Amino acid sequence: MSDEDVQLEARLEEQEVFEPSASFAEQANVTDEGIYEEFEENWPECWEGAADLLDWEEDYDQVLDDSNPPFYEWFTDGTLNASANCLDRHLEERGDEAAIEWVGEPVDEDNVTYTYEELHQKVNEFAAGLREMGVGEGDVVTMYMPMIPQLPIAMLACARIGAPHSVVFAGFSADALATRMNSADSEYLVTCDGYYRRGDPLDHLDKANEGLSGVDHEVERTIVAERLMDGDGFDHDYADNQVAFDDVIADNEGAEVEPVDRDAEDMLFLMYTSGTTGKPKGVKHSTGGYLAWAAWTSQAVLDIKPEDTYFCSADIGWITGHSYIVYGPLALGTTTMMYEGTPDYPDKDRLWEIVEDYEATQLYTAPTAIRAFMKWGKQYPEQHDLSSLRLLGTVGEPINPRAWKWYYKHIGGEECPVVDTWWQTETGGMMITTLPGIKDMKPGSAGPPLPGLDVRIVDTEGDEVEPGRAGYLTVNKPWPGMLRTLYKNDERFIDEYWAEYSDTDSDDPDDWVYFPEDGAKIDEDGYITVLGRVDDVINVSGHRLGTMEIESAIVGVEGVAEAAVVGGDHDIKGEAVYAYVITEDGYDETEELRSAIIDGVEDAIGPIARPEAVIFTPELPKTRSGKIMRRLLEDIANGEELGDTSTLRNPDVVSDIATKVQGD
Ligand code: WT7
Repeated sequence: MSDEDVQLEARLEEQEVFEPSASFAEQANVTDEGIYEEFEENWPECWEGAADLLDWEEDYDQVLDDSNPPFYEWFTDGTLNASANCLDRHLEERGDEAAIEWVGEPVDEDNVTYTYEELHQKVNEFAAGLREMGVGEGDVVTMYMPMIPQLPIAMLACARIGAPHSVVFAGFSADALATRMNSADSEYLVTCDGYYRRGDPLDHLDKANEGLSGVDHEVERTIVAERLMDGDGFDHDYADNQVAFDDVIADNEGAEVEPVDRDAEDMLFLMYTSGTTGKPKGVKHSTGGYLAWAAWTSQAVLDIKPEDTYFCSADIGWITGHSYIVYGPLALGTTTMMYEGTPDYPDKDRLWEIVEDYEATQLYTAPTAIRAFMKWGKQYPEQHDLSSLRLLGTVGEPINPRAWKWYYKHIGGEECPVVDTWWQTETGGMMITTLPGIKDMKPGSAGPPLPGLDVRIVDTEGDEVEPGRAGYLTVNKPWPGMLRTLYKNDERFIDEYWAEYSDTDSDDPDDWVYFPEDGAKIDEDGYITVLGRVDDVINVSGHRLGTMEIESAIVGVEGVAEAAVVGGDHDIKGEAVYAYVITEDGYDETEELRSAIIDGVEDAIGPIARPEAVIFTPELPKTRSGKIMRRLLEDIANGEELGDTSTLRNPDVVSDIATKVQGD
């Protein structure tokens, strides 16, 4: 490093507050600091501005109906169609502009640009096909697809005919697909033959078919997108109720489907996510409030303008891709990028190459990716011209200040604001982050809540804690993008998110508080640092995994008597899965059993849940009342000093396990 570099590093390391550059601030979508006060005074009418970003078929009567908390309704009696908002209304002015730039895994030359006109056409054709096969308003269509253009086409086609979609991440297992289709009573599946990963074709239909065999009701139709090139396919005969995606499109060439008028509160989609119990939760999102939230936050936080080429590297199989690859950006009429593959294939500059080639203006990615980029080294971004970038964002997990600063310096050239956005599947869109043209940034802290949100950090009693002290994050007023309920389970919705801090007998909305199950602290300036989950959910590479789900997969393996899963610190992934396992009588602690456990987890959930370590132990540390002391198991995984073990029924076991994991 040159002297100059050394000085720069030293300065960066100490700097705790970063101002947005003047060049960014000047052109930002939101420039008036008064927005915070204005929204507070004018709540909930302040959200009319978000609704105004959309085209409504029928105007709404009321911004918020809070007469039956926590079942809030937004933009009541308004009607609209999400597909029309993402496509039709842009045709006149932007019909020839790119809606989606798809960059495929580099196995061939077939990157594809879909103009708004072209995307609109495909969506209409596919919507006509869905209708023809019997998909009606309200029918849940499941999608089990990787990052190929047919996925957003299918999503928008569903939105057009009022059929909610439920997208299942392609990396999830066959079992996970079946569980979700069963829970949603979904009779239609859109999937694909296979896809490419690091140049190799993967068989996806095989997994989809296996999942289908676990569905407990009749599946009307499966539509198979054919991604693999000739010669790379796997041998599959389509069943009678399976048809090729391209045939559906071809059979409906030129079709036009009038977008269905949907009530603002009608379900746009379901998204399953992990919780405390073993059963994933079907988070239900609305059409009006959700879309308004996705569009407004895309504009205010990601600073998206129609002429941008905006790049989010997430997978559409997660909420980030729903809100910030598909719905938010397309509602604003911009160009959204979609890339297939991984950031290190064919080389570790994949993302930088894409940014340069497409002159991307924003990059929205995850801390786990940034930590990997950092490890690979700055020589990769340095090979490319990244000067088209105007803003950087992160999401999914806390970002450590070192990674933040690396991102800011080596990707943003110290010119681009970095928005660290805290939100969840349930919130529909961003909640806590700086507005990039207005607010100073503090690496490691997401920032203040967005205008119009009432976020407080409280103790177990619900009283606000002092700045600097750790407490629990709560949201004290509803917001348009919030989940409406858990699919067909209002009771669990209340239990999971509201019961902790609300007076559940009250019908006064002031008595209702949303609890996201995260720990956090706030500083004197109102900046919030999110500390992580306080429930039995761990965050591996920005993906939420329920420890109970993993444990139930492990105890399903022959030879396992009991299991406890915790998250241990991991340099790149943030957290990694540590599984403590007690074998059944008559079974030995063998390598075979260890592999069977790992396979069992991959089969039940998917490779993302693969344990980093499987630790056999004769006992688990338990309190006298029989509760497993997870904290201690986490400390062991992290190689930390062990705290007080005196309340344990079996204190000796702790040091035994620690020796096993950490050595003497
Ligand atoms: C959980 C939600 C939001 C889309 C991707 C994840 C953690 C998310 C941040 C952040 C610290 C964060 C929280 C949250 N999280 N963003 N910027 N800083 N933690 O969605 O799978 O629903 O997970 O991710 O713990 O509760 P999700």
